[in-house]
Amino acid sequence: MVKISASVLAADFSNLKGEISRVLPYIDEIHLDIMDGHFVPNLTFGYPILEAVRKITDLPIDAHLMVTNPEDHIEKFIDGGASRITVHYETCYHLHRTISRIRELGAEAFVSINPATPVSILDEILPYVDGVLIMTVNPGFSGQKFIPTMFEKIEKLNSLRNSKGLNFKIQVDGGVGNENALRLVNLGVDILVMGYGVFRNEQLPTLREMLMKSGK
Ligand code: DX5
Ligand code: ZN
Repeated sequence: MVKISASVLAADFSNLKGEISRVLPYIDEIHLDIMDGHFVPNLTFGYPILEAVRKITDLPIDAHLMVTNPEDHIEKFIDGGASRITVHYETCYHLHRTISRIRELGAEAFVSINPATPVSILDEILPYVDGVLIMTVNPGFSGQKFIPTMFEKIEKLNSLRNSKGLNFKIQVDGGVGNENALRLVNLGVDILVMGYGVFRNEQLPTLREMLMKSGK
């Protein structure tokens, strides 16, 4: 069943607990965007927000590390309660080592690629990951527009998964909402990360229902 992962970057931080509680009936996971101002042109938050969210809900937490040297932070995020760590292909010199380390520490290991990075570059790592996160906007901010050529990229990844007989998850992040969610699910996406689509979407209950009815 397709999962909705709520990116808290789009929430009102002055009322984080209220915001998460409000959307709780419609989401499956929490997505934390950790940005360092180097790999991406924005600074967000780190461990204190992970700790705060851990106290608010028992839902699985996905730490999306948009930082240089992500391996320096993996252990602390897992200790703090993240059940999935997503690292960027573009930030890892030794991706296989980083992915293996995440799994050794007991978390799910996902690899993410930016819009301009082709899926073919993941060929050798696919057997080792629990999932692939296709960035459907350039990472850095919530509320950006979905890049339409990413539909084709997702199709390619799904074909690769089928032809190799692998069962890693496909996750998308950026500009996902009412207009494109179902199309993405039909292309093989398993997890939809949504910031605006969750926290700033009056149609969220309808969207959730539509996805449930799709049976995917
Ligand atoms: C962007 C982040 C996303 C972002 C998604 O770099 O990785 O998780 O918060 O926000 P929306 O869904 O509003 O595009
Ligand atoms: Zn993200």
